[in-house]
Amino acid sequence: METVKIPGTDLDVSRIALGTWAIGGWMWGGTDEKAAIDTIHAALDKGVTLIDTAPVYGFGRSEEIVGKAIKQYGQRDKIFISTKAGLEWKDEKVFRNSHPERIAKEVEDSLRRLQTDVVDVYFIHWPHPAVPFEETARLMESLKDQGKIRAIGVSNYDPEQMDAFRNAAGLNVCQPPYNLFERQIEGGISAYCRRNHIALMTYGALCRGLLSGKMTADREFGGDDLRKNDPKFQQPRFGQYLKAAERIEQLARDRFGKPLLPTAVRWVLDMNVEIAIWGGRRPEQMAPLDEIDGWRIDDAFKHAVDEILQETIEAPVGPEFMAPPER
Ligand SMILES: NC(=O)c1ccc[n+]([C@@H]2O[C@H](COP(=O)([O-])OP(=O)(O)OC[C@H]3O[C@@H](n4cnc5c(N)ncnc54)[C@H](OP(=O)(O)O)[C@@H]3O)[C@@H](O)[C@H]2O)c1
Repeated sequence: METVKIPGTDLDVSRIALGTWAIGGWMWGGTDEKAAIDTIHAALDKGVTLIDTAPVYGFGRSEEIVGKAIKQYGQRDKIFISTKAGLEWKDEKVFRNSHPERIAKEVEDSLRRLQTDVVDVYFIHWPHPAVPFEETARLMESLKDQGKIRAIGVSNYDPEQMDAFRNAAGLNVCQPPYNLFERQIEGGISAYCRRNHIALMTYGALCRGLLSGKMTADREFGGDDLRKNDPKFQQPRFGQYLKAAERIEQLARDRFGKPLLPTAVRWVLDMNVEIAIWGGRRPEQMAPLDEIDGWRIDDAFKHAVDEILQETIEAPVGPEFMAPPER
């Protein structure tokens, strides 16, 4: 498994992080704890050392399961946990809250649920412009000084918001969405992070399963699964994205002898991204981890992919539907 050192820290983490939003159940149609723990163990067995979670994923459930899985596995000192703060919930309605008092309470709740005494990478989950970014940043810096967190991150921030944050704290990691279909960071965030020595740890490598190679037009989503409302999963767009996925898979098989899923993750890693987060909730979903290392996406493939996207997707759409309201 390839690893990378997070700038400004001594953390040397796997370039693939396991995402545990679905493991929390909420917005993914429920969770199965045993399968979730087995998934985390399967990822660790295959060399993943970084697990990404958040309090809001199942309103504490994902963090609790991650804590339990790591406790059972042992070797906490070789595993890195990233979690987040700055989202509040009431009756399953989520809104942003980056007030320092809120973050100071959240970190204690997360440490308890995760059964640990330090969070390795701590993110502000979504920007909350009602609170000066410097105020939130100062609190994050003080958590680091107190030894409660090891690296500071922000998620879903734009460069201007990161500039304001960096007036008051060092910023080690940025977590935006990025995958073959969701390319918004290429408009500036990617270059900003490179210029300012901030590691990019991007989420949604499989575009919520569209790039898994297993998605079909007749897939039914149960319960509160967010894909029922995801604009990419509504026809006729859904069919266009599936067509694009099929053509990219054919190209990857012809060029590299690889199926779609490892190609989608490899593509993220070869686009100047330090860490790709890949979400899963069943242990067998981790099998393709064996097919990511030892090869590279080249420029010819990148150009061919861009042509496929232009030819197949009539009205591309981003992941904006996931953004929680400010209040
Ligand atoms: N910071 C943020 O605001 C933010 C936002 C979103 C996500 N994230 C983080 O990023 C992680 C990843 O993003 P994501 O969960 O949205 O999605 P993702 O990695 O793009 O897709 C994950 C989904 O793909 C399917 N999948 C995974 N492996 C598979 C396999 N081997 N075969 C077939 N299907 C497979 C699974 O869906 P099924 O099980 O339903 O088939 C899985 O839940 C999250 O878990 C979370 O940690 C962060």
